Amino acid sequence: MFVSDCLQINESGHLTIGGMDTVALAEQFGTPAYIMDENQLRQNCREYLRSIEQFYGGHGLPLYASKACCCTEICRIMAEEGMGLDVCSGGEIFTALRAGFPPERMYFHGNNKTPAEIDYAVRENIGHFVVDNLEELRGLGAVAVAQGRRVRILLRVKPGIDAHTHDFIKTGQIDSKFGFALETGEALLAAEAALQIPHLELCGIHCHIGSQIFDAAPFELAAEVMLGFLAQIKERFGAELGVLNLGGGFGICYDEDDQPLPYAAYIEEVSKVVKATAARLGLAMPYIIVEPGRSIPGSTGVTLYRVGAVKEIPSVRTYVLIDGGMCDNPRYILYGAKYRVLCANKAADPADQMVTVAGRCCESGDLIQEFTRLPAVKPGDVLAVLSTGAYNYAMASHYNRIPNAPVILVRDGIPRVAVRRENYEDLCRNDL
Ligand SMILES: Cc1ncc(COP(=O)(O)O)c(C=O)c1O
Repeated sequence: MFVSDCLQINESGHLTIGGMDTVALAEQFGTPAYIMDENQLRQNCREYLRSIEQFYGGHGLPLYASKACCCTEICRIMAEEGMGLDVCSGGEIFTALRAGFPPERMYFHGNNKTPAEIDYAVRENIGHFVVDNLEELRGLGAVAVAQGRRVRILLRVKPGIDAHTHDFIKTGQIDSKFGFALETGEALLAAEAALQIPHLELCGIHCHIGSQIFDAAPFELAAEVMLGFLAQIKERFGAELGVLNLGGGFGICYDEDDQPLPYAAYIEEVSKVVKATAARLGLAMPYIIVEPGRSIPGSTGVTLYRVGAVKEIPSVRTYVLIDGGMCDNPRYILYGAKYRVLCANKAADPADQMVTVAGRCCESGDLIQEFTRLPAVKPGDVLAVLSTGAYNYAMASHYNRIPNAPVILVRDGIPRVAVRRENYEDLCRNDL
């Protein structure tokens, strides 16, 4: 009905998530609050796991890109579901280990891993490093020797496909801070160097072509290009690498214009290309990894806010002022992200007012959505911003010394706190 199956309207005209009344949740946990439907979260993982089973005979693994939303409880859920994990900082590794996530199922990303992080990740036996540059390759080799461990690596490759917008273009992606470029020969040189470093085992290659992609075609093209590179490595160095990580980027629905394919459909379409291309190039089927981030928690989450005031500026616009903003969701001020906003306690009322939903931070650009439609709202009403399960809590800040909002998981009619609301003492914890 809305942007996600986990949202409905109950007999009181209130928005529900996972069958629970959001107005009651706002009352119980306060606002702002991130609310996520755990059943939907788990279901999304299962769809990826099932697809890898069905279309690759289980020869592969979906990794949850933990940057989308990382906390101990979500890492626990990912471990329980049998997912792998994309981690890209010492903090994400620490959180996952704290949750009991198996280190061998973690893949350590990042374009500038610090020496301390590399040392930590090697010591903790993180399953694979996704190496971004030659400095890292050399540094990691040295750490592996120093610790007397063998480290498995993938190389991050820029396949020359840019799919950051709805259209994708085939060239021009050399200008990216991530990874080794294919078309300049840089990636081949990196593979040669990696194969020569003792204690490093070059297992495969990785690419990530963008986010919010609604079409299987750019993924198919990336798979073809990457398999071509595997064939080139085999031909030049006699090394047949067994792992092909095709990254994340599967789109989700923020509003009715967004029409994502079911995740299984992306995997199925790409699997046909992978199988045909591997056969054509005489390669054994690689172990296939995908790295969905946003598409796992994104549409399972809503953020609840309380309206503090409504400011009508005649002939200009009407601002609806809420008790959160860019400190809990910086995506509008960062890049004009679109969101659907509802009045949770009037969810069935006609949305006949054009308003701008504004936050409480000291920036004029601190908006959640401009010129969006709501019913007439007044102070005390609860607003729900939809599809905020990804890159919202993860991007929260303490701007204006505002404590971070809690993360509440609802499952089978029971809410539980995954991350508690911060208090003022938390804000001053590290102050001397
Ligand atoms: C390497 C890598 N993998 C996976 C993802 C997840 O992307 P998305 O959330 O669009 O699925 C990202 C996002 O930045 C990424 O950089």
